[in-house]
Amino acid sequence: MLKLLLPYVLGPREKAELDERGHLALPGILTPQACSLLTEALGRIAVLQEPFGYGRTTERTPGKYAAEYDAFLASLIGHPQLLELARSVLGNEIRYDHCVALNRLAANPGLRWHAHEYADDDPSLRFLRIFFYVNGFEPEDGGLKAVPGSHLFRDSHVLAETDEELQRTWLEGKRHPLTGEPLRIERLSAPPATVILMWTHALHGVTPRGPSSPTRWTVVYAYRNPGRPSRARWISEEFEHSPLPGTEGLMSLY
Ligand SMILES: [Fe+2]
Repeated sequence: MLKLLLPYVLGPREKAELDERGHLALPGILTPQACSLLTEALGRIAVLQEPFGYGRTTERTPGKYAAEYDAFLASLIGHPQLLELARSVLGNEIRYDHCVALNRLAANPGLRWHAHEYADDDPSLRFLRIFFYVNGFEPEDGGLKAVPGSHLFRDSHVLAETDEELQRTWLEGKRHPLTGEPLRIERLSAPPATVILMWTHALHGVTPRGPSSPTRWTVVYAYRNPGRPSRARWISEEFEHSPLPGTEGLMSLY
């Protein structure tokens, strides 16, 4: 069995940070072997992938359905260390939701501000995205940005093309429900081998990738408590019923 993660700390303090801020970075915890296998797998997907992200169509594209196009990526869905991580945050009762390649090639334009839906009206149903930033990122080079506290609003309808637009629309006058501080944009950075956990309702966007930067190799695995339909659940019927080791009871909607 591949060793996926090095030892990491995800105790009460880190979980409280995830709940208060909406995301939590676990820097450098992917093993070197996992990084090299992930880079190869994401390279295979990149050859098939549209150059600028996974598109907004309902098509079954290699980026959106990455695990269905690559056996190694599929094999991680039920990896005990990944499930342990997901369950330690979500509790025991979880389902797999999706596995999307988020490779960003040189000159990738980045991604506007948005959040994702899941049971918007029921905070007891939680949905966690686990990002593998295999070769990391700098804030201004295909970097993730987020608004700490935004997930607590469970508002999946926010859209803004730029920071300025977000600032003068949705962010205007909003305060963090727990700390009372004004909500603000945070630009993250991640060293290679970093895992970032993010609640699905966290507002986030991505900065453009530099014109001569190497490809950012990234994949996200998402898990949730069952209970509602999920719009992000990109999984074919064949894949749902495929006998992947470790995924027993994980693949159905409910
Ligand atoms: Fe997103």
